[in-house]
Amino acid sequence: PALRMNAVDGLLFEGVPLNAIADALGTPTWVMGAGTLRIRVGRLRAAIAASGLPIAIHYAMKANDHLAVLRVLAREGVGADIVSGGELARARAAGIDARHIVFSGVGKSDDELRAALVAGVAQINVESAEELDQLSAIAAGMGVTARVTLRVNPDVDAGTHAKITTGLADNKFGVAWGDAAALYARAAGLPGIEPVGFSTHIGSQILTPAPFRAAYARVADLVRIVRAQGHAVSTVDCGGGLGIAYRDETEGSPEAFIGAIGAELGALDVRLAIEPGRWIAGPAGVLLTSVILRKAPGEGTALPFLVTDAAMNDLARPSLYEAWHGIVPLSPRVALGPLEQAHVVGPVCESGDTFARDRALPIIERGDRLAVLDTGAYGAVMSSTYNARPLAAQAMVDDGRWATIRARQPVEALWDAERQPDWLA
Ligand code: LLP
Repeated sequence: PALRMNAVDGLLFEGVPLNAIADALGTPTWVMGAGTLRIRVGRLRAAIAASGLPIAIHYAMKANDHLAVLRVLAREGVGADIVSGGELARARAAGIDARHIVFSGVGKSDDELRAALVAGVAQINVESAEELDQLSAIAAGMGVTARVTLRVNPDVDAGTHAKITTGLADNKFGVAWGDAAALYARAAGLPGIEPVGFSTHIGSQILTPAPFRAAYARVADLVRIVRAQGHAVSTVDCGGGLGIAYRDETEGSPEAFIGAIGAELGALDVRLAIEPGRWIAGPAGVLLTSVILRKAPGEGTALPFLVTDAAMNDLARPSLYEAWHGIVPLSPRVALGPLEQAHVVGPVCESGDTFARDRALPIIERGDRLAVLDTGAYGAVMSSTYNARPLAAQAMVDDGRWATIRARQPVEALWDAERQPDWLA
């Protein structure tokens, strides 16, 4: 619904012709849709309201931490799940109140923990016995008390790509389920620590509720065990991971996700929270790119290569995870033409720099523009400047308006911070 083809203007995103943005800013350019962000949050909220449960939304800002994205979400009353001191600073720069920030992550430096305590974040999700001791020493030294959840590794297979699975015993994340109750008891006796509950996160791009439900059942068992041992538990953080439809999948259902939470944790009388990233931001973004060349198949090969001006340094997901992203032309003339099979590749000097192999696409010529879909999450945030390719421009559309939200990085910025050793000067 956010994307529409119009015979005159071509592809529109939230009512704005994407060609107008590409004319003004060039390509590659990321475009985020503020309206789509609001609609996604609204759908999560509706599912939460229908459940009747007290569930806060802490947006996993790693998915897209642009200040304008954070501001749109903050105005919808969404808090933030952060994983670094940098994300803490960004969240605060965007105006997110520290009381709505939770701090996750398998390794937090002393400085990062200190900054989080100074800011007064709502909660720190601790992932190991070692981190508990580290945090205790820091908080006690500062004379403050850290509200802590233990992140439990439930040893549940999320059934997603190996590189984005986090809830198996062998993954680096969280405290083993079997160690969690004893560690919670120990936490209760540590200076500077107030254990308030548990957190879990089993992976990303999860499309069915079954793995969530299995994980939450394990966490609920823990809540009952430590309560029986006399400890207070006031909160459970259910993590993120709800998946979206990149291709022909059915997107993860907020109702089913919230339903899994309610079924396992709803009767425990705890405050609940979720940490969705991809589900909110993924469908709210596209990457605009132009075809630099149409390279004809060589002898012994069958398909043309469409070489785009976007590459793996901009959008890393296809090369990292074999991810599939929809690709559509901006021009109606092209979009409505006959189909052929083609490869879509970037210009970076690696075979992995491939956006699509053997894809059915309209016949695309040099100079045609394309939109790579569902790139609002884990897109621009994962960009690098490999091959001395400056970071792409970013725009935001909102109710028929659009604005530049990040200028294309000037090439000089790539070496601005570099210095010559004085013996080379
Ligand atoms: N909470 C924690 C503790 C996490 O580690 C993550 C994601 C989330 C929440 C948000 O998960 P989401 O709702 O977005 O699935 N770069 C990969 C995804 C990495 C996810 C890392 N952790 C990709 O592009 O597929």
